[in-house]
Amino acid sequence: MTRSTARIVHLRAGGVSLAVELLAPVPRVLHWGEDLGPLGDDALAALALSGDGAGLHCAPDEPRRFTVWPTQAEGWSGTPGHEGHRAGTDTTPRLRTTGTEESADSLVIGLHDDDAGLDHTLTYRLDPSGILAVHTRIAAPADAPGPAPYDLAAATVLLPLPGRAQEVMDFTGTWCRERAPQRTPLTHTGHVREVRRGRPGHDAPHLLTVGVPGFGFRTGEVWAVHVGWSGNQRWLAERRPEGAGVHGAVLGGGELLVPGEIRLAPGDSYTSPECFFAWSADGLDGLADRFHTLLRSRPGHPSSPRPLTLNTWEAVYFDHRPERLLALADAAAAVGVERLVLDDGWFLGRRDDTAGLGDWSVDPAVWPDGLGPLADRVHGHGMEFGLWVEPEMVNLDSRLAREHPEWILGPSAGLGPASRHQYVLDVAHEGAFAHLLESLDALVGAYGIDYLKWDHNRDLHEPVHRDAHGGDRPGTHAQTHALYRLMDTLRARRPNLEIESCSSGGGRVDLGVLARTDRVWASDCNDPVERQAIQRWTGQLLPPELVGAHVGGPRSHTTARVTDGSFRLITALFGHAGIEDDLTARTPDERAALTRWAALYKEVRGLLHGGRVVRADLGDDATYLHGVVAPDARTALYCWARTATSVPAQSGRVPLPGLVPERAYRIRIRTEAGLPSFHQVTAPAWYGAALDGWVPVPGTVLTRAGLPLPTLDPAQALLIEVGEQPPAG
Ligand code: GLA
Repeated sequence: MTRSTARIVHLRAGGVSLAVELLAPVPRVLHWGEDLGPLGDDALAALALSGDGAGLHCAPDEPRRFTVWPTQAEGWSGTPGHEGHRAGTDTTPRLRTTGTEESADSLVIGLHDDDAGLDHTLTYRLDPSGILAVHTRIAAPADAPGPAPYDLAAATVLLPLPGRAQEVMDFTGTWCRERAPQRTPLTHTGHVREVRRGRPGHDAPHLLTVGVPGFGFRTGEVWAVHVGWSGNQRWLAERRPEGAGVHGAVLGGGELLVPGEIRLAPGDSYTSPECFFAWSADGLDGLADRFHTLLRSRPGHPSSPRPLTLNTWEAVYFDHRPERLLALADAAAAVGVERLVLDDGWFLGRRDDTAGLGDWSVDPAVWPDGLGPLADRVHGHGMEFGLWVEPEMVNLDSRLAREHPEWILGPSAGLGPASRHQYVLDVAHEGAFAHLLESLDALVGAYGIDYLKWDHNRDLHEPVHRDAHGGDRPGTHAQTHALYRLMDTLRARRPNLEIESCSSGGGRVDLGVLARTDRVWASDCNDPVERQAIQRWTGQLLPPELVGAHVGGPRSHTTARVTDGSFRLITALFGHAGIEDDLTARTPDERAALTRWAALYKEVRGLLHGGRVVRADLGDDATYLHGVVAPDARTALYCWARTATSVPAQSGRVPLPGLVPERAYRIRIRTEAGLPSFHQVTAPAWYGAALDGWVPVPGTVLTRAGLPLPTLDPAQALLIEVGEQPPAG
């Protein structure tokens, strides 16, 4: 074999490297993962020389190579970069490089497909967080051949995995049980997840991770991908006996395209969603840290203290008597709430969930004086005012549906079944788009609305738009872009407006929607037993300040489980905290407890919303130790929680993750949110001392030897604060 003389582009950031050899006709990926350090000519040559694997039996005569855009023309038998056809032809892409552009953090590769006459532009950007963002654009030049458009069936960005990446973890779930992890070996031929809901859904893959077997929160080498898109999605980890060039497998993602959805006529182009690839040698916490760093570095990341919120849904549901809500606003202000969000039930005809969606004007039947008096009361208390909307949806029992049935997404043959009595508006229809934009903008202007809880309560089924000529065209791709455009336009008009992404709880949690929203509603489940898990795993991608976490009443509305106040309060602390309860029905003692907790939240939110999330590997699903450690590791706040009983009678010594062994620390128990009940006669000796005040404990004891932690009763939690021990004297 001749030694390659092709140039190698080596991007490095955050301890990660991407090395791409600009081979003709298509560049290949030599390495993605741990930083290879600065590479001189000899090292680059060795990397290229070692980039070819063996020639195999029953295989192409040249060793297979894994290129940046794999096709069968290279002898690749796995998922190709893209698939499609032009009226049944042009199905075998032949790519060649047309140009490359590089900067310190990016590589752009231009490819031309001589078969279909398409231009591909593949963009890699390596963020300082170490996250590699990849997307592609596929364009039919204005002079593209053939009378027929090119039907793009799939476009998938792929990166290689080494052979040692053999265990997959991703997520499933359902309403009130979002982001339940599932693990499986990465077998031949792999693991494919397809999302056809028109939204990521409660069972969204969330973060597809492949690692060395047994990887945990703190240990194990892991590679992961997130598809930053709010519509249909495709995620895959694919392993084949022959490998992927010199690599073991591939990891990738993109939009799941419905047949006929993307038809590229001359001059048209398709841009794939951004896929975010992450590598870490430090397990799931290492991945989470990279995503949190990426998100926090965005110019639009919320920078003001996250206001303690009261949401009215579980407090009043559809009972929108103004005097009731005014009293709730007063009670909220008294406990220290900083933002009140009026949930569903305020708009025309919305007395229950069967009517009204689409008519975004205040219902005079329940709000005869409009929302002005409530907005004024809320603002008068110094709180922000938020409002629930569900712009993409419509009830047939609405003025909008009666006046504009043509704005509803669905086939000419007639609408299919309703879901929560509702259908989907064709937001890509200019009339529907303008109606939504003007209605929302008018509301924000009229009431000085600071925040919209933007909901989306059904899957998209048969989402086709009916064009003027009677053709039914698939509409999810256009709908997703129209949603983004609607949010972007509204925010451009109202730069101070914040938006929450809600979708029957946590059904739309992705980095596409988060590019134009300020937090997600993680779940409709406020039961802290479930919430410990839901928040833990939502936090695998999102930092706590982006994850809404509310204290509900003693008996959960969604599980009927009754829990102690302290467990509910401590659980809700580790997110963007709020209350979802009728405060006017609470006793003075209960309100005093909420007031103490509200003050604690305001004291610690700087740490919680700017520090590193850490989670301990305990080998027991019912026991949690998680916390947030300040960037300088001088302070930390941990939650020690138990959701159910478990067999071990005591914890033994448990290292607190994320601290520096060489530092002098001190610890204490924070009591403002209440104390847990124990499943033991006496707590470990240090506990009593830490209840009374700071107890010095060297970092090496906290991090290496570990602390014995009290055995809690089920559904209990404890807050442990760590500070730096001041020098003696
Ligand atoms: C969805 C949301 C809830 C609430 C209701 C209102 O279910 O997830 O939080 O806003 O809608 O109808």
